[in-house]
Amino acid sequence: MAKRRRRPWLINTSRVRLLRVNRAFAKATPAGALVLDAGAGHGQYRRLFAHARYETADFAQLGTRYTPLDYVCSLTDIPVEDGRFARILCNQVLEHLESPADALVELHRVLAPGGQILLSAPLFYPEHQQPYDYFRYTQFALAKLFADAGFDEVSVSWLEGYFGTVAYQLELMHRVLPRAKGHSLRRRLLVGPFLAASRVTAYVLSGLFARLELRWQYTASGMPKNYVVRATKAFV
Ligand SMILES: C[S@@+](CC[C@H](N)C(=O)[O-])C[C@H]1O[C@@H](n2cnc3c(N)ncnc32)[C@H](O)[C@@H]1O
Repeated sequence: MAKRRRRPWLINTSRVRLLRVNRAFAKATPAGALVLDAGAGHGQYRRLFAHARYETADFAQLGTRYTPLDYVCSLTDIPVEDGRFARILCNQVLEHLESPADALVELHRVLAPGGQILLSAPLFYPEHQQPYDYFRYTQFALAKLFADAGFDEVSVSWLEGYFGTVAYQLELMHRVLPRAKGHSLRRRLLVGPFLAASRVTAYVLSGLFARLELRWQYTASGMPKNYVVRATKAFV
């Protein structure tokens, strides 16, 4: 009998949602179209664009694994001609850019008239890839940055619903709440059991909220962890 693959209890629902929006973007990309993955990192969406001509740009300054890069550059200065790309994807990069407004102007320059861009960026997420972590974005900041860069038909939406945000906040609570070990007897006796019970409760609730998120993307109140922007470049 085939073994059933076990799903871990804690689920990163943003990853699930990011894969879905990028897959949909790839499906709507015509075969042979030139695509830029801006800030490609390890190129996790490369395989989705096997039918297109997928190119990558990244500044490659982190000590992590990178996918083969076509352009090792800052996103404020991409060494290609105007209007080269029919599609651009840019996931979880904007918060790392010192000059996001300049980078969006550059992405607009390298996008072909009639071309489309998909971008995701966090509203709520701990600092990461330090020291290259500068911003978090509200929907209004994103809409303004895109409009100012010259993009058209700008739409900003929630990546995950509030249950996904709650699941992540609880996971963080489970991971980072301190242990009382090594502290005073008073702390160990009074605060230790409270923190331990909170960590376990957060773990269980995180898994439950993640499963709820995957069945019901609730966006009527609360906040998303990330926003997704879709925009086009107008024909002149
Ligand atoms: C959180 S990772 C996201 C990687 C990839 N887009 C993904 O979703 O898996 C952020 C990426 O932005 C790149 N990056 C940061 N600052 C940059 C800059 N100024 N110019 C180009 N790439 C940059 C980093 O090297 C890293 O690969």
